[in-house]
Amino acid sequence: MKKSLVIMLVLVLVTSFSLYAGGKTEEAAMEVDNSVEVLHWWTSGGEAAALNVLKEDLEAKGIEWIDSPLAGGGGEQAMTVLRTRATANDAPAAAQMLGFDIIDWAELGFLANLNDVAEKENWDAVIPDALKKFSKYNGVWIAAPVNVHSTNWVWANKKICDELGIATPITSWVDYITALDKVQASGRIALAHGGQAWQDATIFDGVVIAAGGPEFYKASMIDLDPTALGSDTMLKAFGMMTQLRGYLDPNFSGRDWNLASAMVIEGQAAFQMMGDWAKGEFLNAGQVPGTDFVAFRTPGTQGTVTFNADQFVMFKVDESKRAAQEMLASAILSPSFQVAFNTVKGSVPARTDVSDAEFTIIGKAGMKELAEANKNGTLFGSMAHGHAAPAAVKNAVMDVVTSHFNGQYGDAEAVEKLVQAVANAQ
Ligand code: BGC
Repeated sequence: MKKSLVIMLVLVLVTSFSLYAGGKTEEAAMEVDNSVEVLHWWTSGGEAAALNVLKEDLEAKGIEWIDSPLAGGGGEQAMTVLRTRATANDAPAAAQMLGFDIIDWAELGFLANLNDVAEKENWDAVIPDALKKFSKYNGVWIAAPVNVHSTNWVWANKKICDELGIATPITSWVDYITALDKVQASGRIALAHGGQAWQDATIFDGVVIAAGGPEFYKASMIDLDPTALGSDTMLKAFGMMTQLRGYLDPNFSGRDWNLASAMVIEGQAAFQMMGDWAKGEFLNAGQVPGTDFVAFRTPGTQGTVTFNADQFVMFKVDESKRAAQEMLASAILSPSFQVAFNTVKGSVPARTDVSDAEFTIIGKAGMKELAEANKNGTLFGSMAHGHAAPAAVKNAVMDVVTSHFNGQYGDAEAVEKLVQAVANAQ
């Protein structure tokens, strides 16, 4: 009698506990977390304006935006923080990322699977292969591409060029040097630049092409061919970097890229060599393309495009956060967002089926050149922005380029160091 009472009591307790626990689980499954945390390095005026387009789009859909900005082009700083957070099991829902970095994260198994939304919206048909190479890993969509930027551009103050009789676009290196000399002789700063490794490397992307053409860029920066890396053409490229170094102002060290853009906008300097995110900065300052500023490909690189694409990589999150994460991915790839965002950011759409009607003359030219370069085999990933080689090689190249640019190595020594550094990094 006593024994069966105990058994009954235990049964009642077990049943009510599991009912309670079951109720809790159901309740938890119903609780949806409508927020997305986004880690990024879009902190300049133009970048923040572009990011705001995405933020407002999501907020209108009821998603709360948790902003995690970490300044620094190329994302060096952002990647460092991300590594620490992910290892502490505290990854954000989404993080801005470039090229080969995405594959590294995918290999580590940290990323979410976006196949449901990608299949529903047929991403495969509209996203170019050059981007898909990084948005997918083993057949799984892991990132939503936001845009396509390119790095081989020069941004120019139109008034200064007109005043000094400098015709634009400048298409040859010789004419470019003549123009830089003219500006310097007029007492202005010829080349606005921020001495940070990624900015030096951004210039180097274009200079390598100007020195040896698209085949040389491919051989040295994509195929990492030691003969090309150690060649006289590479010596010429470092010689051209040395030339450019002579046109900077004494305060260039450490300056942020957007402050260098501001120098051109304000008429203190004539030119800046920077990716087309600079256009976002000019537009954000109210400058009119063709009137206040002009842009042309790094002289000697016409017909070749070194690209990078920002992608929002999605990390594995709690089930309760999945819906919001998928809404973010879907919003990024919507055609209307692609236009609204990229016209502000200075980039071009990550989809191939978007009209160029809303873009500026520079944007239209950028879209056309990208498509042509793709067709002609002269579209290459940017070394400076993580699309030519994995991070270890990129960092090795950047170290040599920046040390040379800061006078630590002469041209010939830089060539030797480059060959060694790339070999050691593989
Ligand atoms: C990114 C751009 C960004 C730039 C400067 C690049 O690596 O791709 O979107 O505007 O860095 O921050």
